[in-house]
Amino acid sequence: MTRSTAVAVADTAAAFRDEVRALADRRDAVVLAHNYQLPEIQDAAHFVGDSLQLSRIAAQTPQSTIVFCGVHFMAETAKILSPDKTVLIPDARAGCSLADSLTADELREWKAENPGAVVVSYVNTTAAVKAETDICCTSSNAVEVVASIPADTPVLFGPDQFLGAHVRRVLKRDNIKVWGGECHVHAGINGAELADRAAADPEAELYVHPECGCATSALYLAGTGAVPAERVKILSTGDMVKQAASKKSGSVLVATEIGMIHQLRKAAPGVDFRPVNERASCRYMKMITPDKLLRSLRSGTDEVVVDAEIAARARRSVERMIAIGTPGNASSE
Ligand code: 13P
Ligand code: SF4
Repeated sequence: MTRSTAVAVADTAAAFRDEVRALADRRDAVVLAHNYQLPEIQDAAHFVGDSLQLSRIAAQTPQSTIVFCGVHFMAETAKILSPDKTVLIPDARAGCSLADSLTADELREWKAENPGAVVVSYVNTTAAVKAETDICCTSSNAVEVVASIPADTPVLFGPDQFLGAHVRRVLKRDNIKVWGGECHVHAGINGAELADRAAADPEAELYVHPECGCATSALYLAGTGAVPAERVKILSTGDMVKQAASKKSGSVLVATEIGMIHQLRKAAPGVDFRPVNERASCRYMKMITPDKLLRSLRSGTDEVVVDAEIAARARRSVERMIAIGTPGNASSE
């Protein structure tokens, strides 16, 4: 990119951010963006973070409107926590393949087959599934949430099979039944690809999201000594940013959705961050575009609505989650 092109790009980004902030002020709105959003959306938002960090902000923010740049279950979680606030998502069609992999009917049936079990659901679920859940969790507190349940109590963990396997492995607990759901983006980052990239870059650290199909391979590589164990980190998106912030140089292979690279480069400009799979892009996250964000702020679309009775039951499981685990700090932009 020539210097004049770079200046023009920076000017456009600054003008977009100013417009977003001015429209948000007029609407008394806070703009939240998940780490997988397009870089220009992340740079315009008031806060950027992982799903737990953004849930916490949504629960505490003083503004009367929350504009959620992320996928639908995240905006729905904000509405569950703040029923009196207006919650907007720039495109309500932004779904999640993982949330689609467990329905409320399927969960009711699973519970009936396992009486006495405590249900732990990842936040990547619909409000109706959260209403059938005892405690929600995210990738950054799943281990702490399950550890808070007495060791002799059986647990049903859903919907993500890779995150469930990670929790079982860390807690060395065999009374956890795991649902077979997956995210199409993370399941597509496979172990063979990770092993090849790690072999080609023997000095690199590996940051692996626990939803990845390659999470098991990363731990296997560490177990065989192919990659020193201290270089393999299984991290939520928010914890990747925290981990990066203390690094000054070197290279990191990142196994998660490619939008993550933007916050990592901002947190550690001297480090070479490279995606394990450049095609790992979530089409739902990318449905939130700058134009749709502006339209949302101007015209109050798309409003997120959750049935009051479902929201009240879902709130209990989300609030139990928020009370457990280490609070992460979303970055304010
Ligand atoms: P985090 O909870 O790590 O932000 O991940 C959310 C998500 O959708 C992963 O695909
Ligand atoms: Fe859902 Fe996967 Fe997209 Fe995350 S990356 S929002 S889990 S489809």
